[in-house]
Amino acid sequence: MIRINENYLNLKASYLFSEIARRVSSFQEKNPGKKVIKLGIGDVTRPLPGACISALHAAVDEMSAQGTFYGYGPEQGYAFLREAIAENDFRSRGADISADEIFISDGAKCDTANIQEIFARDIRVAIPDPVYPVYLDTNIMAGRAGDLSDGRYGNIVYLESTAGNGFVPELPREKVDLIYLCFPNNPTGATITRDRLSRWVDYARENRALILYDAAYEAFIRDDAIPRSIYEIPGAREVAIEFRSFSKTAGFTGLRCAFTVVPRDCAAYDTSGCAHLLHGLWNRRQTTKFNGVSYPVQRAAAAVYTEEGRAQVRSLIDYYLNNAGHILNKLKGFGYSCVGGDNSPYIWVDAKTDSWEFFDLLLEKAGVVCTPGAGFGRCGQGYVRISAFNDLERVVEAMERIGGTI
Ligand code: MLT
Repeated sequence: MIRINENYLNLKASYLFSEIARRVSSFQEKNPGKKVIKLGIGDVTRPLPGACISALHAAVDEMSAQGTFYGYGPEQGYAFLREAIAENDFRSRGADISADEIFISDGAKCDTANIQEIFARDIRVAIPDPVYPVYLDTNIMAGRAGDLSDGRYGNIVYLESTAGNGFVPELPREKVDLIYLCFPNNPTGATITRDRLSRWVDYARENRALILYDAAYEAFIRDDAIPRSIYEIPGAREVAIEFRSFSKTAGFTGLRCAFTVVPRDCAAYDTSGCAHLLHGLWNRRQTTKFNGVSYPVQRAAAAVYTEEGRAQVRSLIDYYLNNAGHILNKLKGFGYSCVGGDNSPYIWVDAKTDSWEFFDLLLEKAGVVCTPGAGFGRCGQGYVRISAFNDLERVVEAMERIGGTI
């Protein structure tokens, strides 16, 4: 008899964004004439930067000719892209990261989901609440979360992000081994100061813990005082893995390219306390389970670091930040308190009512899709997340419609 991994039975019935898509398509079926504006899932709407498109075309042409054709590439990514990332995203900002510590992948979602499999099943995991659901769900699938009771899993340490702590969690009182952090935060849009991030690095060093730092939205940071990478914090190289993505930075959600940084100093321990380097373990995992990102896509990603690419990416992000500013101003004008929206494409809104009720209200009365905060965890109840990823005209119209509804 073939049996299932029963940990899957511990999961909530459906993935948050699938549930939202289901509700939206059922609304659209019932209201075919109504144009829905989507400010829910953070999916980009603007085309790829011209520099990326040119690089993509050129690489496709190379693939068409004997002599310039590429078959399997290195599982870790091509050197031209790893070098460009190490230089531009890290070394030029004073973070000591080398090209061979960068692993190119097809998405930060997959990497943040997959990384947990190199750790023991009985470690103590600390996860923010509210949280990007992937961190929690993948630990549930692995059997690490324990039983669900009153909406919370018994073995998870929840790091609460609330209005009271400025949506940046405090250090846990108990000892934890693996810590997920995400800044600029998904879903709240909050950012972390150097000082607060240093406290997390110190905690990890003191407790032989590891931080999984999701920096997928770092390109939205415009305030130089805010750290863009955890490696700007002294001592982080030994205790942190960082995840980045080209999805929101350069519009790659449909093209797929991201990377994970595993410094060669980062270790975890076996049962006898002997240290093992995570770089080797992740490399072993990737070479076994992954065959790399396609050559044309990596060429397109490398074009982000050219002079032209850099300017185009900046204006793309400016565009979404301008949307975010508009959403933030309007919502504040309507009397809502919000965080995020500057240095972040997400606006976290105190809905003053149940999250899903507010979601339904915006969908049914205004035809606008947001993301209910409760879907990100208990602390998200009473909030909704509004995404700035859409065209300006749509964002303006959505805010007009919301203004006429609430
Ligand atoms: C989100 O809306 O939270 C993100 O788009 C989801 C993702 O990046 O997977």
